[in-house]
Amino acid sequence: MMLLSPSILSSNFGILEKELLMLNESSCDWVHIDVMDGVFVPNISFGFPVLEVIKNTSLKPLDIHLMITNPDKYIEKFASYKPEVLTVHFEACTHLHRTIQKIKSYDIKAGVAINPHTPINSLESIINEIDVVCIMSVNPGFGGQVFIENTFSKIKALKNLITKQKSNTLIQIDGGVSDKNAAALLKEGSDILVAGNYIFKSNDPKDNINKLKNIK
Ligand code: DX5
Ligand code: ZN
Repeated sequence: MMLLSPSILSSNFGILEKELLMLNESSCDWVHIDVMDGVFVPNISFGFPVLEVIKNTSLKPLDIHLMITNPDKYIEKFASYKPEVLTVHFEACTHLHRTIQKIKSYDIKAGVAINPHTPINSLESIINEIDVVCIMSVNPGFGGQVFIENTFSKIKALKNLITKQKSNTLIQIDGGVSDKNAAALLKEGSDILVAGNYIFKSNDPKDNINKLKNIK
């Protein structure tokens, strides 16, 4: 059973509440929340006041993706929104093991996102501690980018690592996901798909959510 996590970065912030109510009524599983600081990535998205609105309106579990430097500084604050998963970037953490333990101390799933250039074998010593690995299938920073095809070989390598080390880690794919590649991504072993533009830039977001959810 695949989990679908629409990325509200691609939604219309002028009617954010309406967009969240639409997700509440849809068949999606989580809501993906992209927090960018303008330092780790070349874009700034939104911060705590917007998270407040999302927390108060969404009935779906929150999937927070931190594209920020020094995430440790803000883990307590993000944990206060009680997300399902809190994801930090591998490339932003000097003491990743400690960061993961801190997230899990709040009873929240710990996610680790890896940029397109970061190899799967960097996770070898830490995979058993990670609840969700988020493979970035675009360079983080913007919605609506083209899916990087090499992602497929990374999913395969990650699946092998998870099997070899008998870990329960879920595989999430973020960036350029659509009805064109979703079936292949699932076949390769992905558990969670994030989709922004494919859902929110369509005329019928709920229908596109259903389309992805119905892909086997
Ligand atoms: C990219 C973000 C993604 C993005 C996905 O930095 O992490 O979550 O919003 O959007 P699409 O599906 O449009 O690539
Ligand atoms: Zn994301």
